[in-house]
Amino acid sequence: MTAQPRSPQGHFLLGNLSDFTRDTLAFLLDVRQYGDLVKWKFGPFPAYAVNSPALMHQMLVADAEHYDKDRTSRVILNPVLGEGVFTSNGDFWKKQRKLVAPSFHTKRIGAYGEVMVDYANRLVAKWEDGDTLIIDHEMTALTMEVISKTLFDAQVGAETEEISEQITILLEVLNHRFNSLFPTPLWVPTPENRAFKRAIAKLDEIVARFVAQWRAAGVDKGDLLSMLLQARDDDGNPMSDKQVRDEAVTLFGAGHETTSNALTWVWYLLSQNPDAEARLHDELARVLGGRNPRMEDLPNLPYTEMVVKEAMRLYPPAFAVVREANTDVELGGYTLPKGSIIMGNIYGIQRDERYFPNPDRFDPDRFSADNEKLIPKYAYLPFGGGPRVCLGNAFAMMEARLVLATIAQKYSFALAPGHPVIPQRVFTLRAKHGVKMVAHQREAIPVLA
Ligand code: HEM
Repeated sequence: MTAQPRSPQGHFLLGNLSDFTRDTLAFLLDVRQYGDLVKWKFGPFPAYAVNSPALMHQMLVADAEHYDKDRTSRVILNPVLGEGVFTSNGDFWKKQRKLVAPSFHTKRIGAYGEVMVDYANRLVAKWEDGDTLIIDHEMTALTMEVISKTLFDAQVGAETEEISEQITILLEVLNHRFNSLFPTPLWVPTPENRAFKRAIAKLDEIVARFVAQWRAAGVDKGDLLSMLLQARDDDGNPMSDKQVRDEAVTLFGAGHETTSNALTWVWYLLSQNPDAEARLHDELARVLGGRNPRMEDLPNLPYTEMVVKEAMRLYPPAFAVVREANTDVELGGYTLPKGSIIMGNIYGIQRDERYFPNPDRFDPDRFSADNEKLIPKYAYLPFGGGPRVCLGNAFAMMEARLVLATIAQKYSFALAPGHPVIPQRVFTLRAKHGVKMVAHQREAIPVLA
C-alpha cells in the first residue's frame, strides 16, 4: 500500500462529513494539525486538504493543468451556471476565459467607479442616524444593484428586485445541496427542486429579455453584457445565446455575494477596532475631505485598501478552492490517484501563525507597502491564484474601496448590543444571524476645494 497523508479521526460510516458540515470553519482550522496535506473523508469519498502556500502554488499554478474544477461543484452548480467560466474545464474553459477576460480590463471597469459611488450614496440616503441595520442585507442590496447596472445596465427597482429574489432562492438551495451527501436528483419533484427550477426559469427569462433588448438596440451601452455579446473567438465567431446566458449568470452570481460579504466583515471589524477606524477616518478626511471618492483617488488611499485586505484575510468570502485531479498527481510527497478531490484551505492558511503572526488579530498594517512584501507568496489567496484566479478581482477591490470610502465618511457603525456574530459557511463565509449594527451619522467634514 502506498503511503497516505495523516487523517483526522472520523465516524466509521460518515467519515468527517458531520464535523465538516456542523462547523466548517473550525474543521478547516483543526485539519492543519495533521500536516500540510491531509486526507479526510466525505462519507465514503476520500478528499484532501492543502494547508500550505507551497502546496497551494503547486496545485493552482505549477501543475494547474492537472487540476480541474471538481465534479461535485460542477454537478451542483451547472443547472444554474451552465458551462460558464466558473464551472467549465479544459479547452472550453480556456476559450471562454479568453472571451470574457477583456470585459474586466482596467480601462473598461474604470467606468464603473461612478456607478459604485452613486449607488453607495443612494443607499446612505435611505438611512437615518440611530437606525438599526442588518448590515449584510444592506451590502447585498448595494452590490446587487451595482452588478445589475454594470452587467445589464438595469435600473434599480423592479428588475433588480426580480433578479435578487431568484438569486436568493438559488443560493439557499445550492447551499443545501452542497451540504447533502446525496442531493436529491433534480428530476424528483420535491418542493425544493420545484422552487429551484422555477427560479432558474425566471432568471433565464430575465437574461433573455436583456439580450433581446440589447440586440434590438444594437449599441454598446458600456455594460458587461455588451462586451459578452461583442466578444469574438480566434475564428471571429460570437458566443451562442446560451453561452452568453451562462457567462452573464456566472458573473452575476460571482459578482455580488462575495463583495457584499467582504464589506460586511469590514464594517464589523472596524466596529471592534476603534484605532483602525480612526486611522481610516483620518485618511479619508485628509485625501477626500468630504467629497466623493473617484477611481483616481484610490492610489492615495492605502489604508482603505489595507483594511479591506486584512478583513479578507480573517474572513475570506471564498474560504476554500476545490479541485479534482485529472490524472495521478504528486503532491506534498504523496501520489494522489486521478479523481482525487482536493480542497485548498484558504481560511486555514490565512489564519496560520507560521505566515501571519498573532493570526486572529485584526491588523491592517500587515498590508502596508513594506510589510506586505514579507507575506509568503500564496499564503494570502482571497481571490485564488494561477490561471483560474478570480476574474473580477480588480472589479471587487475597486468596489470595496470606493464603497468603504463613500460610506465611512458619512456613517460609522456599532454592533447592536447583545447581537451575536457567528461566522459560518453558507456557501460563502457569512455571519450566522447576520450582522446587526446601529448606524451613527458622522459630522459633515468640510469639503476641500
Ligand atoms: C471580494 C470579492 C470576491 C472574492 C473574494 C472572489 C473570490 C474568487 C475566488 C477565490 C475565485 C477562484 C475560485 C477557484 O479557483 O476555484 C474566483 C473566481 C471567479 N470570480 Fe471571483 N471573487 C470576488 C468577486 C468577483 C467579482 C466581482 C466577479 C465578477 C463580476 C467575480 C468573478 C469570478 C469569476 C468569473 C471566477 C471564475 C474564474 C475562472 O475560473 O476562470 N468575482 N473568485
